[in-house]
Amino acid sequence: MCGIVGYIGSRQALPVLLEGLSRLEYRGYDSAGVALGQADGVWLQRTVGRVADLKREVRQAPAASLGIAHTRWATHGGVTVANAHPHTDATGRIAVVHNGIIENMTALRAMLTAEGVVFRSETDTEVLPHLIRRHLQGDPVDAVRRALEHIRGTYGLVALFADHPDVLVVARNGSPLVVGMGDGEAVIASDPQAVVEHTRRVVYLQDRELAVVSTSGVDVRRFDGTMLDLNVELIDADYDVANREGFTHFMAKEIAEQPRSVRRCLRGRVDADEGNARLGGLQLSNRDLAAVQRVITIGCGTSYHAGMAGALAIEALARVPARAEIASEFRHRHPIILRDALFLAISQSGETADTLAALGEIQLKGGEVMGVVNVVGSTIARACGRGVYLHSGPEVAVASTKAFTSQVTALLLFTLMLARTRDLSLTRGQEVARALASVPEKVAHYLDHPGPIDAAVAAVKDARYVLFLGRGFSFPVALEGALKLKELAYIPCEAYPAGEMKHGPIAMLEAGTPVIFVAPTDDQRDKAISNMMEVKARGATLIVIHTAGDDEMAALADVAIAVPPVLDLVSPLVSVLPLQLIAFHTGLALGRDIDKPRNLAKSVTVE
Ligand code: M6R
Repeated sequence: MCGIVGYIGSRQALPVLLEGLSRLEYRGYDSAGVALGQADGVWLQRTVGRVADLKREVRQAPAASLGIAHTRWATHGGVTVANAHPHTDATGRIAVVHNGIIENMTALRAMLTAEGVVFRSETDTEVLPHLIRRHLQGDPVDAVRRALEHIRGTYGLVALFADHPDVLVVARNGSPLVVGMGDGEAVIASDPQAVVEHTRRVVYLQDRELAVVSTSGVDVRRFDGTMLDLNVELIDADYDVANREGFTHFMAKEIAEQPRSVRRCLRGRVDADEGNARLGGLQLSNRDLAAVQRVITIGCGTSYHAGMAGALAIEALARVPARAEIASEFRHRHPIILRDALFLAISQSGETADTLAALGEIQLKGGEVMGVVNVVGSTIARACGRGVYLHSGPEVAVASTKAFTSQVTALLLFTLMLARTRDLSLTRGQEVARALASVPEKVAHYLDHPGPIDAAVAAVKDARYVLFLGRGFSFPVALEGALKLKELAYIPCEAYPAGEMKHGPIAMLEAGTPVIFVAPTDDQRDKAISNMMEVKARGATLIVIHTAGDDEMAALADVAIAVPPVLDLVSPLVSVLPLQLIAFHTGLALGRDIDKPRNLAKSVTVE
């Protein structure tokens, strides 16, 4: 979603800002802009479209060693140059970039309008430079602090003052910001990706903190003025977004990486002899685990689907009641937070606002939340304090792939730990541990032998509607397959538990309607075959993801895609792979923007 970059130092700011914006492109945006500090005011350039377009438009930019830049994902107001950030005050001497949402913007716009301010955009952000101007009496830091007293909502912001070229003022409440500290310079960003090529020494701002950034360093204070000790951290060396390494798209690279990313998630965590798993970051003793009476996962999109696969596994193996919750719904339905429940906040980015808000609500009510997060040091990981890192490496494509398989892997490790503190035997534990340890090899085997993906793509690419079906552990996989195809191909799809098809969605089927049935061999196999017969009887085109060797099932399909045999609760880790490939190749066949599908953002930082 929106991205912020700021620079102060002795180098030219513009190349640093533009390179930073390029590194944040993967998050999704629809316009971009830059502001440079000049003695005669702020120099501003904004554009609708890509950072590449902005780069063309700033060729005549003046020299400056102070600047801020932004990529905007439209919320308040359409995708126009006027709505793009940075926004300036009426004098053109203060510029602000902002991520987040100002909830009381209507009242603030009315107040400022009554005072004579003329707004030039439809955004919530524009109130900020006007409010800061209203409070500016010499000290820029004080002006920002007093302006923020009016604001209700979330923000990560950077303010630039043409009359104070020695500082940038930064503030955070609910939207991440990091200050990278270089030698006589500083790079500010909403994502460490834009900082890492300049310095690994960073300060993460916390909520309700304000930082004054200059060439000689940074000082951080609370909104009430209390000065804080600097907590300088080192960004992980492998944080840097890798290049595509010869792949045409990040998504293709990330699909192919899954044998390695799952192996990294498993490394050092499977105890084959004891038939157990170790997740040290949870800091839970066996006694603590044994006391857990229910598990609730919270997440959005793909992370929600992974949570659902995890919850099914927890109930099946550990016999602990478990359910998956959609984070964006959770806190708004006044949830009951039981003290004997363990909540798992699942997020690739660790920045998803809905998940963050849900975990805040749980913590407020005294609940215990642990993170299942990919990005080390992200807001959700920090807010949880304890949890499991996925170690998938950076996921750049907007459509999540390798994060899903790592999330499910991490949840299965947790399931095994939980189950072993109950009545799961050593022998059965060893069987599950072996099954988990073999996943990277099975994933690699499938990706080397993907089967007739082309035939599946030919069946779905011109379809008006695609139905995904699955039973048990395969239902979350069906949901994930439908989400991927929607995101990549913009084809209307839905996913149903296969037994539910006859209660409504079967009305959608006619000759040639593609139905993608996720049906690895498990204890629901015979029921799945009956559902397939119902599909075939309507003349629909049946694409079946089945276990290699299940020839009877393969024979029923118009397109049969075999995945390696695995233990039933591990099956999502292999049966999701063909669905990722179908979505990728269908998007490609339709000429879609694979890594940045329309309207989507990688990291959804607004509720
Ligand atoms: O970073 P998170 O895992 O919290 O993101 C959650 C969803 O926004 C994300 O999974 C989204 O649904 C993806 N685009 C799916 O491909």
